[in-house]
Amino acid sequence: MIDFRGRVAVVTGAASGIGRGLAERFAAEGMRLVLADIQPEPLHAVAAALRLNGAEVVTQLTDVADAAAVQALADCAWSAFGAVHVLCNNAGVVPGARFRPIWETAPEDWHWSLNVNLMGVVHGILAFVPRMRAQGGWGHVVNTISVAGLVSGTNSPAYGAAKHAALRATEALYADLRAEASPIGVTALCPGVVATGIGNSERNRPATLVPAGGVRDDDPQAKERYASAKSAALMPAEVAEMVLRAIRERTFYLVTTTAFDRGVRERMDAILNRRNPDFPDILTMSQEESDARR
Ligand SMILES: NC(=O)c1ccc[n+]([C@@H]2O[C@H](COP(=O)([O-])OP(=O)(O)OC[C@H]3O[C@@H](n4cnc5c(N)ncnc54)[C@H](O)[C@@H]3O)[C@@H](O)[C@H]2O)c1
Repeated sequence: MIDFRGRVAVVTGAASGIGRGLAERFAAEGMRLVLADIQPEPLHAVAAALRLNGAEVVTQLTDVADAAAVQALADCAWSAFGAVHVLCNNAGVVPGARFRPIWETAPEDWHWSLNVNLMGVVHGILAFVPRMRAQGGWGHVVNTISVAGLVSGTNSPAYGAAKHAALRATEALYADLRAEASPIGVTALCPGVVATGIGNSERNRPATLVPAGGVRDDDPQAKERYASAKSAALMPAEVAEMVLRAIRERTFYLVTTTAFDRGVRERMDAILNRRNPDFPDILTMSQEESDARR
């Protein structure tokens, strides 16, 4: 059984939602924390609340889309605590108008999503994994992907494509570490619908990546269906509990729900049988996930 006490965890996107849930759960295990986010006030509020409960917490304002900023985060972690044992590449964004077809998805949406959801994870791997390998001993990397990285079809193309790519990068990390029999484990966290601030990601869009004519709004009917699915969503604390178990058990694919399995199956079955796919609708699967929880 891994004793987490005194070990060091780094969490990106720690100011809200799943990242905050992870930070709270790790603090409850007695871990020392390096928390990173692009939003200073909520980041400092999370750190202050954890310190009140006795946790040792360092914060670093970080844009994970910026490779140098993520290197600076690694410097900060090693200079504060001398080691990093658990790395959670968790920060992510969903560009607005996610329930619109691909031909209405602006280049800026693609760049923003790929910069954060894919390159944020890659930057974390590049900045931390060589040093974790050099430090030696047990470690674990948790990359937050999504069921959107497993299924396909209509809805959120810029988000889904970035998450598919981030999963591919995470599989490479897993395989490369496994090939050298590394004591560093890897988990690809693939949540379904979780009650977080992700629907309000536009708060973090860089001014340089606002599409000409502004950010389009979503189709109101799709928005309503998503809100309904979200009303019975998993809580970040539940996800954090699953992550802790996955780290302990060295689970690679951590898919928090079975509601999207038929989407994965349809995609794989179509590929293997060389037939055209009939992708189930992502919003319908989201609704099924919440119906199963009600
Ligand atoms: N909530 C869901 O339903 C759901 C489902 C599947 C996957 N996810 C994934 O979970 C992860 C966490 O998201 P969440 O749902 O907790 O949303 P959230 O919006 O509550 O939290 C995301 C955090 O990331 C931060 N962030 C955004 N851009 C950043 C950047 N460039 N650099 C550093 N920090 C940045 C935000 O400020 C925020 O604190 C994301 O990768 C998301 O794609 C969420």
